[in-house]
Amino acid sequence: MRIRAPRGDTGGVSFEGPFDEGMKVCLGSRVGMRVLLEIAAYQAADADSLYAGARKVPWGDFLSAKSTFAVSATVRDNAALRHSGFVALKVKDAIADTLRDRLGVRPDVAPDDPDVSVVLHLRGNDVRLYLDMAGDPLHRRGYRVAMTEAPLKETLAAAVLALGGVAHDVPFLDPMTGSGTLAIEHALGARNIAPGLNRRFGFERWPDQTRAAAWKALKDAARAAILPAAPAPIFARDSSQPAMDAARRNAREAAVANDIRFELADARSLSVPPGIPAGNIVTNPPYGERLRAGPGPDPEDRALEALYRDLARAIGRLSGWQLVVLSGNPLFTRAMGRKAEVSHRLWNGPLEVRLLRWRP
Ligand SMILES: C[S@@+](CC[C@H](N)C(=O)[O-])C[C@H]1O[C@@H](n2cnc3c(N)ncnc32)[C@H](O)[C@@H]1O
Repeated sequence: MRIRAPRGDTGGVSFEGPFDEGMKVCLGSRVGMRVLLEIAAYQAADADSLYAGARKVPWGDFLSAKSTFAVSATVRDNAALRHSGFVALKVKDAIADTLRDRLGVRPDVAPDDPDVSVVLHLRGNDVRLYLDMAGDPLHRRGYRVAMTEAPLKETLAAAVLALGGVAHDVPFLDPMTGSGTLAIEHALGARNIAPGLNRRFGFERWPDQTRAAAWKALKDAARAAILPAAPAPIFARDSSQPAMDAARRNAREAAVANDIRFELADARSLSVPPGIPAGNIVTNPPYGERLRAGPGPDPEDRALEALYRDLARAIGRLSGWQLVVLSGNPLFTRAMGRKAEVSHRLWNGPLEVRLLRWRP
């Protein structure tokens, strides 16, 4: 799927197009987090102008008397409006007052599970109001039923695969798979399964359902485009049995369990079955993010360094495999003994991490 004329922005990408284009992005984007439909843009220097601008929006087009809603705001560089909670409250009042005038009722606010989620960005005096088409963020694909320690967000795993240039038609191996996110995201991509096929989106709860048939047609087309099997083997391994169990359950939920070979194994003695051609090793090793108790050599660092060294040695014994690693620990590069060819800065929640790639 391609969107027309996308423009990169801080923290996002903007594009113009019909409503269906937004539905397509909800269904097919592997790396996006939210899809926001812009409904108003105006200037506000203070609370009164913020409220007055929001009163001009035809909220009755987006909410019915029965809809529940919520407003969330982010605020930057406005001298008078500094608190996102206050800004959200002002706009919530404007929405409720507008609907009361038009429909004679005040709709209910439902902060945790609204039918319509309104998002406001205030930058200086620029106000932009959006409806959140996705509702729950896009990383909630609906397949994560079992957790392990420190699972990657599905969208971050998909970004690692895309930025790492991980091809679908060669073997894939994650020797430290945890809950299986990288292997599952790779399998979804390899089988051309749209990541949003098994969940509901915010716009499905909006009162205006004139595009419902188009939405169904998009999903039917996405289902018809699924390949019956992944074109190359996918291995997901871990030394922990609970992690293996979790990965298998998640893969079953994502309908890709038959595409992945799950194997309990220690990454330090990494090997590949005979007859498997070279492909990509993609992994997110443990990186010891816990806080240090005090100065001096950290025993956890020493253990990690030894693990990385053993892993680097084992990978060195394979020939022709590309290595893609998401790590927050510089010791991994040291253990590899050569500089990564690609190094992207990414965020794993609050942690800065690096996507590193070594060609064979
Ligand atoms: C940061 S977690 C991976 C998280 C995973 N990417 C996910 O999304 O759930 C690291 C994993 O490495 C595994 N691990 C640690 N040492 C290992 C070893 N020597 N061999 C295989 N797996 C190991 C742990 O059991 C853990 O599941």
